[in-house]
Amino acid sequence: MKQYRRIVPVMACVGMLAMVLSGCGGDAGGKQIVRIGHNQATDHPTNVALLEFEEFIEERLGDKYEIEIYPSELLGSQTDMVQLTQTGAVDFCVASNSILETFSENYTLFNLPYLFASAEAYHAAMDDEEIVGPIFESTKKAGFEAVTWIDAGTRNFYTVSTPIESPADLKGLKIRVQQSPTNVRMMDLLGGSATPMGFGDVYTALQSKVIDGAENNEMALTSNGHGDVCKYYSYDMHQMIPDILIGNCAFLDGLPAEEREIFEEGFRLVNSVEREEWVKAVEAAKDKAEHEQGVTFLYPDTKPFQETCEAMHQEMLGRYPDLEPIYDKIQDHNGQHPSEKE
Ligand code: GCU
Repeated sequence: MKQYRRIVPVMACVGMLAMVLSGCGGDAGGKQIVRIGHNQATDHPTNVALLEFEEFIEERLGDKYEIEIYPSELLGSQTDMVQLTQTGAVDFCVASNSILETFSENYTLFNLPYLFASAEAYHAAMDDEEIVGPIFESTKKAGFEAVTWIDAGTRNFYTVSTPIESPADLKGLKIRVQQSPTNVRMMDLLGGSATPMGFGDVYTALQSKVIDGAENNEMALTSNGHGDVCKYYSYDMHQMIPDILIGNCAFLDGLPAEEREIFEEGFRLVNSVEREEWVKAVEAAKDKAEHEQGVTFLYPDTKPFQETCEAMHQEMLGRYPDLEPIYDKIQDHNGQHPSEKE
């Protein structure tokens, strides 16, 4: 297998991308190369799960396919990678659900702040085929479909030097958000100044004080080094946004039935391995952030944040009424797995 690290010189990345785009190296001794891109570091649960996928597929179909994993934005930003997956230059990539909102409005649903009442409700909803099925298939005409979801925990605000205890503390702060209309709207409502940018640019923007903070799960502090710069991480719990593994439709539809079944099993493996790894990785990230990076974790009352964003649910349903039955199904899961605080 081939592993590439972030330290690969920029020119080499550009060369690699050009090679991928031109289709060179698409054949490894008669085998079909299957390329998977993502934007996380090699020690991240997403990469660990994809490595298991690689092993699983190559053990069973290794005479036909060679899986190549490109971590750390080596194939570009998530938006670039989704476009490459649409055309088939790349076969699969991991994209945040936020980014997919700009490719299909259906994905707006999972980006809503405070959509899920608890982590249990979030997991149960994302495991519910009746909820994710119609959304995952909705981009087929655009050339790609979702094959599984990947846990990315809970998103919270973190800043270089301002403890965030309530929405009022965000006033006047420039906060990086993902490039999605929902995230910009959320930030506007909460009073901060939304600064959309790609994930790979956040560290430099924090360090150079172009932004005052960002919002993400705990892994961003350690795996991406944001905790070296940001000293306050505040559990306002505003979103649980899944990552989505998407695949090129021509590749998937071209698989013979028995091979497709093996790939499907592999996708389920990605989901289960990543979820197991995630729990351990977040625990380790919190420990490292607190004890080695000197990050202070804050636990504000989440209610004022939630109330400030509440209007977004009705706004979304007004704009996309077709999503209402799915939204209602999520509420059923919320009823079964309410927040522990209530
Ligand atoms: C998380 C998520 C990524 C996403 C990133 C971001 O790390 O797992 O898919 O790109 O947040 O904030 O952009």
